[in-house]
Amino acid sequence: MAKGPRPGDGPVAASEGRRVGMLVAEAQEALAHARSEEAVLRIVADHACRMLQARLTAVWTPDMYGWLVPRATAGAAEEYAQGLKLSVRKDRPSGAGMAGVAFREGRIIALNTEGAPPPGMLPQRWEAWRRRAAVHGFRQVLILPLRYRGTSLGLLNCYLAGSGPPPPAAWEAVRGLAITATAALHGMYLREETMLTLAAAREARDAETLEHALRVSLYAERLAEELGVLDPEQLERIRWGALLHDVGKIGLPDEVLKQAGKLNAAAWRVVRRHPGTGYELIRRLEFLGEARQVVLAHHERFDGTGYPRGLRGEAIPLGARIFAVVDTLDAITSDRPYRPAADYLRAAAEIRQGAGTQLDPAAVAAFERIREEQWTRLRRRARQGFFSRLRPRRCR
Ligand SMILES: [Fe+2]
Ligand SMILES: [Fe+2]
Repeated sequence: MAKGPRPGDGPVAASEGRRVGMLVAEAQEALAHARSEEAVLRIVADHACRMLQARLTAVWTPDMYGWLVPRATAGAAEEYAQGLKLSVRKDRPSGAGMAGVAFREGRIIALNTEGAPPPGMLPQRWEAWRRRAAVHGFRQVLILPLRYRGTSLGLLNCYLAGSGPPPPAAWEAVRGLAITATAALHGMYLREETMLTLAAAREARDAETLEHALRVSLYAERLAEELGVLDPEQLERIRWGALLHDVGKIGLPDEVLKQAGKLNAAAWRVVRRHPGTGYELIRRLEFLGEARQVVLAHHERFDGTGYPRGLRGEAIPLGARIFAVVDTLDAITSDRPYRPAADYLRAAAEIRQGAGTQLDPAAVAAFERIREEQWTRLRRRARQGFFSRLRPRRCR
């Protein structure tokens, strides 16, 4: 039997369908071009907000301590999410507490200020949340986990002014958007983990640590920004190149690795092969782009006396010229088996001295514009190690 007309059918519903349809197409296209995690999260927040005409949408992802933090927001009530952290742990309920449930169990949860408090929530907490919601002009929040193959990567929370169910077409569109975006994020995180696994494999071969690789990768990214690199993809590749610079050392024979003191000529010849070995190792990883050239060129010198190809000046890929500066910084400011670490000023002096011979003068000038505290902060971040977004350490 044919269905009769329902309220909501007709020209209004049709134009609403068109509006949502256009937003879906726009979001798909934006996601297809998104090249960084930040970009994906922003597209999700923006488009979900417009699809649902929400007061606020916020995308939350876990930090390394097991808190969900807002990474992208959209809408008039953005202030609500500022500075807010949600716990994903069972033993640390906070906020409405339901975010953790949605994240852990992968369930969509709707909270309505006009309904009853969710089971297990203290009445005072529920009242406090309702008051805050009223201040920011929303009557319900839809909590949508960003799930991929059984793993929650984050949450998309949609805060709506109305207390009724959202228009079905818009809600379906938001769910579809969440699925596509989550798949894209998963791919990005997986690539990141692949890089770290390679960097860690290399750590097993000699004393240079994964922490050194993490430090120079963060330093390189910062220096690239200072040099005016804005493209997130290029930044990422410079970071990966620095992270993997010595991956070719995996192939060094034990005799060479264990040789103490100055290398003899034969051993030195073998060591000089490691940039090429590294390049060969990662050559097929198309997504690494220029990072592969950074690995191959990380021992080139600006004056053309480096190896393996003796490239000179700007013939050396930018990422490798950047790497040379930050590797010098890290070498001098870290303990080595044969000498203790020196301070930043000593490193800065040495870097200045290397301008034009070993180092690119433009990269050195950019280095000097960055304050010491910034390097210290990045150093601290590297010490925290790698935090897997696919397996947040302390979230369970
Ligand atoms: Fe090297
Ligand atoms: Fe190194």
